[in-house]
Amino acid sequence: MIRHFLRDDDLTPAEQSAVLDLAARMKADRFGHRPLAGPRSVAVLFDKQSLRTRFSFDVGIAELGGHPLVVDTQVTHFGRGETLADAGRVLSRYVAAIVLRTHGDDRIAEVADGASVPVVNALTDGFHPCQLLADLLTVREHCGGTVGRTLAYVGDAANNLAHSYLLAGAMAGMHVRVAGPVGFGPDPEVVDRAAKIADGTGGSVRALTDPVAAVAGADVVATDTWTSMGQEDDGLDRITPFLPYQVNAALLGHAAPGAVVLHCLPAHRGEEITDEVLDGPQSVVFDQAENRLHAQKALLTFLLGAAPAAPDAAGP
Ligand code: CP
Ligand code: NVA
Repeated sequence: MIRHFLRDDDLTPAEQSAVLDLAARMKADRFGHRPLAGPRSVAVLFDKQSLRTRFSFDVGIAELGGHPLVVDTQVTHFGRGETLADAGRVLSRYVAAIVLRTHGDDRIAEVADGASVPVVNALTDGFHPCQLLADLLTVREHCGGTVGRTLAYVGDAANNLAHSYLLAGAMAGMHVRVAGPVGFGPDPEVVDRAAKIADGTGGSVRALTDPVAAVAGADVVATDTWTSMGQEDDGLDRITPFLPYQVNAALLGHAAPGAVVLHCLPAHRGEEITDEVLDGPQSVVFDQAENRLHAQKALLTFLLGAAPAAPDAAGP
């Protein structure tokens, strides 16, 4: 069966944990895993801009022994003059997997409908599941694990990061609180789905409007831009209502002592986060950015059915 990764919950909680275990092993032995040797090719397509996702997939596929084909779709026929399903069907004849950053989730779903190889969401309007694998790896590294830890995401709680924190955090057994201004809350369908997942993992989810209530006692404080790609001209005031949600020293002071700060980057310094916090001792954002590489290498390896047996699962 082809395994796509369009949303965080396309993995089970156990599979998410196994991918994170493999990511840690790949990080410790960076050039020791070459499941794409041959090389097998992977298409990495961008309908939107990127720095981290673009480089981490390009480098990661090469480190796995594969051949990355990184393409800005504006220079192709992708989605122009043929259906996205047909494009997915064609690309599947060339490559072992398709990685796509695009706008609506309907677009990546259509590519997956036509594809006969795994399709990976490298950010859509709705979700950023690869980011969350990196974030959870970072939380494991800095908090000793994810189960039972509290993560507060403050800012635009209606965006892709908020939705992925809800789903992936719940899958990892975390207590996830997201807080944004009235009118900038998460999709209720995602909150309900995350709550059901949390019932099975011992985690919990809450959608709030009070940033202090969200951050109080949290082990992890996360934020993201208040203006996501594609929202630049949506006519909404994306500054004034968000000011109470800025991650600054005062807000961070409500978190648990030693709490760590996440930001997927790029950061808009002085808007959603201050220099003092981003460059301060509690910030782990550059480890987080590095972990995109290791997490995505593990994800691709898993989706292609090439994951090596875990060391403690080795047979006689
Ligand atoms: N965090 C993230 O996805 O960054 P890019 O937009 O630079 O890829
Ligand atoms: N929410 C942001 C994340 C960028 C990595 C966006 O979609 O632009």
